[in-house]
Amino acid sequence: MRVGWYQFNPAFGEVKRNLDLVATRLAQMSCDLMVLPELFASGYQFVSKEEVRALAEPVPEGPTTQRLTELARERSMYLVAGLPERDRDTVYNSAVLVGPTGFLGVYRKAHLYYEEVLFFSPGETGFQVWDIGSARLGIMVCFDWFYPEAARTLALKGADILCHPANLVLPHCPDAMVTRCLENHVFSVTANRIGYEERGGKPRLTYIGNSEIVSPTGKILHRAPGDQEDLTVLHLDPLEARNKALNPYNDLLRGRPAHLYEL
Ligand code: ACM
Repeated sequence: MRVGWYQFNPAFGEVKRNLDLVATRLAQMSCDLMVLPELFASGYQFVSKEEVRALAEPVPEGPTTQRLTELARERSMYLVAGLPERDRDTVYNSAVLVGPTGFLGVYRKAHLYYEEVLFFSPGETGFQVWDIGSARLGIMVCFDWFYPEAARTLALKGADILCHPANLVLPHCPDAMVTRCLENHVFSVTANRIGYEERGGKPRLTYIGNSEIVSPTGKILHRAPGDQEDLTVLHLDPLEARNKALNPYNDLLRGRPAHLYEL
């Protein structure tokens, strides 16, 4: 399976321009699964509720999901990508999964980071897994990495690949995903952005790039630079994530005495 990310510097509020850029880049390559950053077409540093509401879109009817669905159909690929989602009066920091047959589902970010709590409601979709035939895909968004329960829940539900759109500003996540993958024996694709935003007199947010794919044994298969646009596609075998035996005596998930974890 050919799996990749597109790391770039989205222009705040310029949804069409960002979508056009993604479409142009994707036209130059082929892959089976492509992960794009969190809020990849809208930008991240909102300054008011009005602003985020104006950029938020219904899913799947909104222009971003529609365009992604077209791309997935034309390019015969699956795409996971982040966007601000509006559902009646509520706005979520969401990620959609689309494929050659159309829209497949949405995940609404559960763990909101920093000022996101001012602009978004915490998602209640939970951590879901989609079986696309060649792999079982789980979705988590950026700061969800800080809560190991997110990746664990996806692994317990059978995910082979954690699709992880991100807008990382802290330095720790790329290394932490090594542990998330090792402790769950899954692949992860973290698609981060680059550049910075410094809007409305707020402190500058500098995004750290370093998008990466990590293997079920915790190997960083490839990591992007911190400050350059990067489109990477790697070959991987998602079935490597299915056998949870660490050795003849330890099976990772069956070895959990879950009753001891009850609070
Ligand atoms: C983050 O969750 N965007 C850091």
